[in-house]
Amino acid sequence: MLKNSHLLADKLALGMRGRDLLCVRDLSVDEIYRIFDLAAALKSELRQGVGHPLLADKSLGMIFRKSSTRTRVSFEVGIWQLGGHGLYLNTDDIQLGRGESIKDTAEVLSRYLDGIMIRTYGHEEVIELAQYASVPVINGLTDLFHPCQVLADMFTAYEKKGILTGLKLAFIGDGNNVANSLLCVCAKLGVHMSLACPKGYEPPQVVVEMAAADAAGTGARLEIVREPLEAAAGADIVYTDVWASMGQEQEKAEREKHFAQYQVNSRLMAAAKPDAVVMHCLPAHRGEEITDEVIDGKNSVVYDEAENRLHVQKAIMALLMA
Ligand code: CP
Ligand code: NVA
Repeated sequence: MLKNSHLLADKLALGMRGRDLLCVRDLSVDEIYRIFDLAAALKSELRQGVGHPLLADKSLGMIFRKSSTRTRVSFEVGIWQLGGHGLYLNTDDIQLGRGESIKDTAEVLSRYLDGIMIRTYGHEEVIELAQYASVPVINGLTDLFHPCQVLADMFTAYEKKGILTGLKLAFIGDGNNVANSLLCVCAKLGVHMSLACPKGYEPPQVVVEMAAADAAGTGARLEIVREPLEAAAGADIVYTDVWASMGQEQEKAEREKHFAQYQVNSRLMAAAKPDAVVMHCLPAHRGEEITDEVIDGKNSVVYDEAENRLHVQKAIMALLMA
């Protein structure tokens, strides 16, 4: 395999240039592994101090309607490391936040920029932005999906385990944007996924059906159960996320009651494989969905996941925007 990112990027971009990434399902299995190959090369070069200005003079606009630490910093530093420039566009500061249309925003930003990353509430907003933008649009999280996160997670699992097909991922918690994207990526990559959530907090039926359609082709077994220990049994990856996502702050107290039994703690970890890795997209609410003991424990890879957001998103940007 070619290791030099300059040679790799061009070879791997075949058919990906100019495309959007709104959902993991926008990518084929081959394209997901192309992202991983380039991310691995970029990560290795960065560690060796080898520069890789694959996006020299390119600009990425980053629209944020919600808070962010990892997504903002990893995209901004990532585009800079690729020789380009990132613009942080908080919706409190740009006219979109005062009611300018998505269409006009998309059309105008496409005249200045080479790519747009957006974090917002409604997924429809991202779809509309992509419809009118003539540059690639990357979903940096919506209420429905968080594709960049789960691509970094699967890349991390690939690094740790050497293979993805046939692994079992247990997701303990809310059927939220991260869970939805995990269902999609697991289905694509042949990773079995067992999701334990309280009644009424399942992923949307439409997402379950889309994932099931992909799983039929890869042999991934996807299931939704009530019992956290049942989901965790024999798992290679144990994953959790907050009980109340951004935008659900007013439901926090009620959710705490429903999710009280859905905590990733030592007792739950005892049901997983001894070498199971613990994942969390972060930010975590320590003492709620995960204990300090587990998130700081020897099986935790949460900071590797966070780091890999940088390498994987650089690969995504290079392949879509070069
Ligand atoms: N995991 C993640 O997307 O983190 P931020 O909300 O800090 O971007
Ligand atoms: N489900 C969380 C993920 C944060 C990265 C949220 O949407 O707030």
